[in-house]
Amino acid sequence: MSSLPIIAPSLLAADFADLRTELRRVADAGADWLHLDIMDGHFVPNISFGPDLIRRLRPHSRMPFDAHLMIAPVEPYIAAFAAAGCDHIAIHPESGPHPHRALQLIAGLGKKPGLVLNPGTPLELIAPLIDQCDLIMLMSVNPGFGGQKFLPGTLPRIAAIRAMIAASGRDIRLMVDGGITAETAPAVIHAGADALVAGTAIFGAPDYAAAIAGLRGPWV
Ligand code: DX5
Ligand code: ZN
Repeated sequence: MSSLPIIAPSLLAADFADLRTELRRVADAGADWLHLDIMDGHFVPNISFGPDLIRRLRPHSRMPFDAHLMIAPVEPYIAAFAAAGCDHIAIHPESGPHPHRALQLIAGLGKKPGLVLNPGTPLELIAPLIDQCDLIMLMSVNPGFGGQKFLPGTLPRIAAIRAMIAASGRDIRLMVDGGITAETAPAVIHAGADALVAGTAIFGAPDYAAAIAGLRGPWV
């Protein structure tokens, strides 16, 4: 088990022309998980990459692959991401009519299921799905692009989800995704997050190890 908070660099901000080197550099710098943003140009207004790229990266990294699926409909593609080597597969509840079944499908494939909530998504949606989740990811920007500004309204939502997780009695990681920097991370951790996704703040920094250490902070 990695020390908390878990740091998950988002590949979206990496140098796509040299991904093998980028994987090695973030692993050497102390990253815990590799966050993979999958965008279809339909559920979100941007297109990134798909399972074939992930399958080609898989032999070059021992980090858990943390897939964040921003595609609709999502269910038909889940098996492909599992087969490509993703360890965690997180879905948005709006990305298909049957989020409960999609989470069951992920677990049935032997992967950790996650639920991702947009800034405008009501938290009550978690209640009937929390028993299916190993991860809950809270978006602190509207999904689609890296490099956006952290939405401060996320902080009370983190605290509310932390309370829901405690009440569930389940061991669920609470991740926050979007606009995470050394400036925004402390409040996010203090509100109750235990895993941080960061693209620009890591891959855009000259020294990945210093950037990761700056995000991890002295919180533990
Ligand atoms: C946004 C993605 C994020 C994004 C984070 O849709 O889900 O994972 O890559 O990028 P930064 O850290 O630059 O906000
Ligand atoms: Zn993401």
